[in-house]
Amino acid sequence: MQTIAWDDQKEAVTLIDQRMLPDTPDLLLCNTVDELIHAIRTLAVRGAPAIGVAAAFGVVLSFKTSTTIEEALKKCEELKNARPTAVNLQWAVERVLAAVEDCESVGEARERSLDLAKRMAEEDVEVNRAIGKHGAKLFKDGERVLTHCNAGRLACVDWGTALGVIRSCFEEGKHVEVVACETRPLNQGSRITAWELMEDKIPVTLITDSSAAYLMQRGMIDKVIVGADRIVKDAVFNKIGTYSHAVNAKHHGIPFYVAAPMSTFDLNHTEADIKVEERDGDELRYFKGIKNAPDGVDVLNFAFDATPLELVSAIVTEEGVIYPPF
Ligand code: MRU
Repeated sequence: MQTIAWDDQKEAVTLIDQRMLPDTPDLLLCNTVDELIHAIRTLAVRGAPAIGVAAAFGVVLSFKTSTTIEEALKKCEELKNARPTAVNLQWAVERVLAAVEDCESVGEARERSLDLAKRMAEEDVEVNRAIGKHGAKLFKDGERVLTHCNAGRLACVDWGTALGVIRSCFEEGKHVEVVACETRPLNQGSRITAWELMEDKIPVTLITDSSAAYLMQRGMIDKVIVGADRIVKDAVFNKIGTYSHAVNAKHHGIPFYVAAPMSTFDLNHTEADIKVEERDGDELRYFKGIKNAPDGVDVLNFAFDATPLELVSAIVTEEGVIYPPF
C-alpha cells in the first residue's frame, strides 16, 4: 500500500500512521483538514514529499467541510503552516489553490482540487522513480552507503528519494549496503528506514548517530545519501544531524549526495531566511513515555539543520544530477 491514498467512498485521506512503526503499520483516516493538520504536526505523516501530497488532499478536505471559499482558504493557511521547514508543504498547498482560483463554489473547488491532488500523488511516484534512475549512476556494486532519517517510500507516496536511489540500484543489479543512522530523538532511521529496507530485503545495518564519524574513519562508509526538506541558494535543510554527517564526510573524502525533487528547491531564499522547526522538549525528556532526563531540564530540540552547499558533492533530482557550483 502507498503512504497516502484518497478514499473515494469515505471522501477522506488514508495515511500509513508512521507513529506506529516499526510495529505493524496502522492506517489513519483523516476526514477533516483539522485531523490532517494534527497528523502532520504529530508526524503520523512525515517526510517532505509525503507532507506535500497529504497537504494537497488537505486542501480538498478544507473545501469539503467549509461552507464558503473564504472559510476554506483560512483553513488552508493554517495547513500551510503546520510545519515550517519543508517547503513541499507550502508548495503543494499553493499549487492546488492556484488551480482553483477561478472556482465560484466550494463544490467546484473541491472537485477540481481532488483531481489535482490525485495527479500530484501519481507524479510523486514518477518523480521518485526518475530520481532513482539518475542517482543509481553514482553508486557501484558492493558500496556501503550511510543515510540519515528516512527519505524512503514512507517519506513520499512511494519508492522514496534517497532510498529510492538505493532501490533503483537493486533494480539495476547493484547490491549496495545501507548504514542507517538511528536519528534521535524520534528515531525515523531505526523505526522507519530500517523497517522499510528490511521489508524489501535490502541489507541494512543500524548505528547510533554518534557512530557515523568513527565508521567513516575506519573506511566503513563509501558514500552518504540523504533527502532534503528545502534547498535554498546556499544550503540544504534536512533532519538534524545531517550537517554533522556532511562535515565528517568532507573530512574523510567521502562523497555526500542529496536526493530531492525539484519541488524541494526554494531558490528565492538563503539559509538565514528559513525558520527551523523547534519541537517539544519532552521528545528528549521522555522516551516512549519513560523518563529520560531530569524533570524540568532545559532542552533545545531543533528538528532540522542546514548543510552549506560547499559540503554537497551532488544533488540528484528527477531532471538529472546537479554538480557544484550548482
Ligand atoms: O521530521 P521528519 O521526519 O518529517 O523529517 C524528514 C526528513 O528530514 C527527511 O530526510 C526529508 O523530509 C526528506 S524525505 C524524502
